[in-house]
Amino acid sequence: MQVRLIDLMGVLSRALDLVSRMLGNHHVHVGFLAARFAGRLGMDAATQRDVLLAGMVHDAGAIALHTALESLAFERDLYTHARAGQLLLDNCPGFEGVSWMVGEHHTPWDVLRERDSGSLGLGANIINAADFVDVRLRRHKPYAVQFADVAASAKREAGRLLNPDCVEVFRELVAEHGALDGLYAPASHLYTDAEERMEQEYLGCEDVVRLCSPFAQVIDFRSRFTATHSRGVAVVAEDLARAVDFSLTEQRTMHVAGLLHDIGKLAVPGSILEKPSALEDAEFAVMREHARISGEILGNVAGLELVCQWAGQHHERLDGTGYPFGLRGEAISLGARIIQVADVFTAITEDRPYREGMRPEAAAALLRRQADARVLDPEIVCLLLERMDDLNCAREREQQKARDEFERFSGGLRNLRH
Ligand SMILES: [Fe+2]
Ligand SMILES: [Fe+2]
Ligand SMILES: [Fe+2]
Repeated sequence: MQVRLIDLMGVLSRALDLVSRMLGNHHVHVGFLAARFAGRLGMDAATQRDVLLAGMVHDAGAIALHTALESLAFERDLYTHARAGQLLLDNCPGFEGVSWMVGEHHTPWDVLRERDSGSLGLGANIINAADFVDVRLRRHKPYAVQFADVAASAKREAGRLLNPDCVEVFRELVAEHGALDGLYAPASHLYTDAEERMEQEYLGCEDVVRLCSPFAQVIDFRSRFTATHSRGVAVVAEDLARAVDFSLTEQRTMHVAGLLHDIGKLAVPGSILEKPSALEDAEFAVMREHARISGEILGNVAGLELVCQWAGQHHERLDGTGYPFGLRGEAISLGARIIQVADVFTAITEDRPYREGMRPEAAAALLRRQADARVLDPEIVCLLLERMDDLNCAREREQQKARDEFERFSGGLRNLRH
């Protein structure tokens, strides 16, 4: 598997923007604006790359925080969500500068310059300024007619909250006809300034896994019911892929598909994800949309074709009763059948706050019934049952690990607040 870093980040950035319509492409916009500012300020290519990537995911912490610290509203505690993002990104390969900038993206210029006046500090100032601009742009009005007012607000904050150089660059861009037009189609214009470097930076399988793991946590942490689900599905699906003799690369690709299969859930409102009682029909229809959205958001990215296919079909069923397309039999690829079995197995055996997971015997009986009814693939179910004990242990271990990480994440944040 070879995926261009900028393409994968585009997927993750767009996924974060699904969480609220009010965000209206906020991450993609901030990435775009930040890259423009960095280019104009003459930063070197490596730092421009960090600024662009940090802008694209800068508020990831705010989304994961919802479950970690119940009382926290989105922007009420700016410092905490910035740190949360830094904690999430800390273990991503080659993201040292990126995670630092994310952690400081709300630190006022006059505070940060006391600590760091180097290029990382400037990078964080740039994200702060780009964020300042974008949250002030109303989505229902043409941006061009709003720029003058936003520039005036920015000028009032120059030298305190905002870096005066960033404000100056914004004013220059506003004055230049068409310089900010990319905001109307930001995804396609994202990488012009940091272009050369970003065009060439490819991730192999292991780096994709390491970059996607924290984002699986962002997906899972939105609901305490399923706070470790994707991690469980990833290890079960990978093991089944090994059992059907998929190549090593395909096995790791399956792991990535497991991590991202529910990425479309970022578009499902928290009130539905966290509803303690059964869903109404209309709510269930919204919930079901997540499978289609997973497929869509992972689509058209070179290198992620299989991830997209397997994740996008994770709720299809052999007998045609699944969704979103109601595919049947041979129309469903072997990889997708594996994810389906791994998803069902993980869902029924994992503990959830309102019920304990099924014991292995009960889970085996349920899977057998679904195989007999040709809902799930009988051969995959058979393979799973043969290795049930080992697989169940591996699933439990991985989900425990994810729970520990979640505890460390929320514990680390609680300490910050005291
Ligand atoms: Fe923020
Ligand atoms: Fe933001
Ligand atoms: Fe799902």
